[in-house]
Amino acid sequence: MDLTPFEPFLDRLSQTGLGAWRDALAEGTARRLGGRAHGDLPTWEAALARLPDLPNGRPRLDRPCVGIEGARPLDADLERSLTEVLMALHPWRKGPFCIQGVHIDTEWRSDLKWERVAGAIAPLADRLVLDVGCGNGYHGWRMLGAGARLVLGIDPTLLFVLQWLAINRYLVRDDLAVLPLGIEDLRGDLTGFDTVFSMGVLYHRRSPIDHLMDLYRLLRPGGELVLETLVLEGEGERLLVPPGRYAAMRNVWFIPSVDALAIWFGRCGFTGIRVIDVTRTGPEEQRSTDWMRFQSLHDHLDPADSSRTVEGHPAPVRAVLIANRPEPSP
Ligand SMILES: C[S@@+](CC[C@H](N)C(=O)[O-])C[C@H]1O[C@@H](n2cnc3c(N)ncnc32)[C@H](O)[C@@H]1O
Repeated sequence: MDLTPFEPFLDRLSQTGLGAWRDALAEGTARRLGGRAHGDLPTWEAALARLPDLPNGRPRLDRPCVGIEGARPLDADLERSLTEVLMALHPWRKGPFCIQGVHIDTEWRSDLKWERVAGAIAPLADRLVLDVGCGNGYHGWRMLGAGARLVLGIDPTLLFVLQWLAINRYLVRDDLAVLPLGIEDLRGDLTGFDTVFSMGVLYHRRSPIDHLMDLYRLLRPGGELVLETLVLEGEGERLLVPPGRYAAMRNVWFIPSVDALAIWFGRCGFTGIRVIDVTRTGPEEQRSTDWMRFQSLHDHLDPADSSRTVEGHPAPVRAVLIANRPEPSP
């Protein structure tokens, strides 16, 4: 796969204060896509190429189901072929998306997380935004819907990049991209975002303090971090390091209490630290669907006690914290 689908975004980025990022992002993207990037990449690319042309529709970025609204329902054959091609990009984890009547009912109701976040953060109007671990870009679309000037999403999982390309085939925007990069691909001398999101990533990091320091560096002075992660409920400074799996996930390393997390933020230099939400994840938010046919939350909780995971840990509770990189003192 070459860089062509990402060029319009990189050109757009060059016209912002992030112009210095262009070459590093292009090189990292080319590297991640090069060689045998993923055995299924040719199949996914072939699916993208089969996406049918659709009649014009109205973009919808400011409502739970992101996508395109048509003036009238698609004819049955067109709807079937659109559904079949999008299904080739299974599993769809983050969404939902609605493309001219085709409802991609994803594993996660990501709109519920966005509802918890959107009202509490600094207004996104005209801001340059980075979304680290953005999945297929669902929240990025909502950020554009909230007026962001440009949203760079990064996620090393190639299927999610292909899902973004599929949705963007119809939304055709150059102010959002999901690039196939991990946070470790963002060079140490690059900075300048007004808002940085890291949602659902910290507990996957083996060095959570380094992750927070990276996020700090990526923000301009005065910029805002929005971080969502798994936490332990209750007061005091506590930490769970699961000895094995957590809710069947092999890559969960650190689950702090909110108080411990706030201390980590402070040690990394953040100020104005606020907890804006703490919510237990329930089956209304994360479940198996036709578009994500593997096991989901329900299968990973103790059938006799849904307050515990199958491994006996506290069931998933997620918190959202906001903080600022301070302005330098005069
Ligand atoms: C739990 S999902 C969260 C997705 C989305 N941010 C949300 O809140 O719904 C975590 C994401 O982080 C991505 N990820 C894994 N390692 C990463 C890394 N080194 N840098 C950036 N993202 C990473 C995964 O591919 C996955 O899409």
